[in-house]
Amino acid sequence: MTLDLEAADRVLSGLRPFPVAITTVDGGFANGLVSLSAGAASIIPEAPRATISLTKYNRTHDMVLDSGIFVMHLLSAEDAQVDSSLEILKTLGGSSGRDGDKLSRLRTEPGVTGAPVLLDAHSYVEARVTGTLDVQESSIFVGDVVAAEVLHGGERLRIGPAWGKLPEEWIAQYEANHVPQLESARALRFGAQARR
Ligand SMILES: Cc1cc2nc3c(=O)[nH]c(=O)nc-3n(C[C@H](O)[C@H](O)[C@H](O)COP(=O)(O)O)c2cc1C
Repeated sequence: MTLDLEAADRVLSGLRPFPVAITTVDGGFANGLVSLSAGAASIIPEAPRATISLTKYNRTHDMVLDSGIFVMHLLSAEDAQVDSSLEILKTLGGSSGRDGDKLSRLRTEPGVTGAPVLLDAHSYVEARVTGTLDVQESSIFVGDVVAAEVLHGGERLRIGPAWGKLPEEWIAQYEANHVPQLESARALRFGAQARR
């Protein structure tokens, strides 16, 4: 049977509808990105775990690998907070920490691990990495949750409505940034196989 990419897309797309803002700090530099890969990773209610998948192309990937800590934030969809949510999404997801500091544009406070907590987020869990799976172009991190807080509450922002509210220029910039990221991912996946 051949691989039906349309069927694969029907199964896999939209499984994780909540964009999350991931932050970390490494060697005194704070950074973060936006991700749609976040999930829960523990069946033990008193010992929660969170999982994220970060692309090696992104600076946050190397920083989480080095520091072993991250904060995963949900964003708010409530009227009073949604502008702050979009600001977080645009700031962390629109450019790379390779090109300079992004976090100082957002309101933060250090969490228990020292990683920055975004004060305008809906809620967050802070985690220490307990396991990492290297999958060529990205790493899947699983972290023990060491702190958690609901900062604003209400409805959590979903990616569908969020895209509808983002400015066209920002989306164009995001799509342009995505091209080299995808090229890097393909090189790491298929380049590695070709060399075997
Ligand atoms: C909606 C959305 C979802 C994203 N999902 C991921 C993801 O799951 N993993 C990832 O590594 N990058 C993801 N990105 C891309 C990063 O947020 C983006 O490349 C960021 O600029 C990387 O910043 P950094 O180099 O400072 O880490 C996503 C971006 C957006 C806007």
